[in-house]
Amino acid sequence: MRSVKINHPGELQLFESTRPEPHAGEVRVKVRFASICGSDVHIWHGHNPFARYPRVIGHEFFGVIDAVGDGVDPTRVGQRVAVDPVVSCGHCYPCSVGRPNVCRELQVIGVHRDGGFSEYAVVPAENACQVPDGIPDEHASLIEPFTIAANITAFLQPQAGDVALIYGAGPMGLTAVQVLKHVYGVHRVIVVDRLEERLTLALKNGADEVINNLDTPLSDSLAGTQPTLIIDAACHPAILAEAAAIASPAARIGLLGFSSEACTLTQQSLTSKEISLFTSRLNSRRFPQVIDWMARGLLHPEQLITHTFPLAEVETAMTLFEKDPRTCCKVVLAMD
Ligand code: NAI
Ligand code: MN
Ligand code: ZN
Repeated sequence: MRSVKINHPGELQLFESTRPEPHAGEVRVKVRFASICGSDVHIWHGHNPFARYPRVIGHEFFGVIDAVGDGVDPTRVGQRVAVDPVVSCGHCYPCSVGRPNVCRELQVIGVHRDGGFSEYAVVPAENACQVPDGIPDEHASLIEPFTIAANITAFLQPQAGDVALIYGAGPMGLTAVQVLKHVYGVHRVIVVDRLEERLTLALKNGADEVINNLDTPLSDSLAGTQPTLIIDAACHPAILAEAAAIASPAARIGLLGFSSEACTLTQQSLTSKEISLFTSRLNSRRFPQVIDWMARGLLHPEQLITHTFPLAEVETAMTLFEKDPRTCCKVVLAMD
């Protein structure tokens, strides 16, 4: 089988190896579609602090179970599945309170262990989540990015009457737009970005208003509108202080970023408005919820997919994805 392997930072190889066999408790997935994420590019370039090399990358993927290990129901062979990349120990404190995504021994498929940019992937059986026939294969490779939006919105508890503001109209901001609009029915969703093309995409994904903050400060464009719910899906360290300043009293702010740069803000800017701050990492068992939303037609993955490439062209696909955010959103690899 062929796999996309990062041998060490900077070296991407389409690697040929024998098909792995599933061990006890595992299934083998014949991957059909896998979607490229910024973190795959970061692992390639050596910018992901969690990655270990060599590594088969890819954590957003869909396929069909073609073999099962001991102890796994053999009737699962043939099942269509999306793979939850979160592998957890099941007994530490975060696991015991339903937060396996921050397990003390967290292993992310495609980061800490081999992932889905491969013709076959072996994963724990419980991570392979059944996808109903109504969801097309290619769309199912986008279930994982939608779980990020599902996880942060579970903290933020959006209400129809919220005035929501999302920083960043990349894949993360756009999945959040769709979940706020189409799942929670938020009446007013504003998206801010610096790229006009991305803002056009935000409107297609359901945003009610878009703001370009490249030349005009956001507070000027908002002209007194105070968002009650803010999601930072652009993740520049300067954003949190601005978000606190523009937020309504009693607002909730959700953060997705992993920057190690300091961000400066005062206690007063948060406490005087009693702002709630939530952070969210990956997802805590949100695959079934997102699969249900997709099956009910609430989510529109096709609005995010701009390109599809065969596996053999992975380097071209990842380079385009990285260099051209004006034309690319989700870039998907087709395995056969
Ligand atoms: P992306 O790079 O495609 O999108 C970011 C967007 O933000 C771009 O369109 C960019 O033009 C815009 N932007 C940058 N600075 C801005 C600013 N100051 N104001 C307004 N817009 C600005 O990235 P993607 O894939 O959407 O991911 C976004 C972030 O989410 C990344 O930092 C990533 O690390 C993080 N992330 C977090 C996850 C989590 O579980 N917490 C999971 C996946 C991604
Ligand atoms: Mn991702
Ligand atoms: Zn644990």
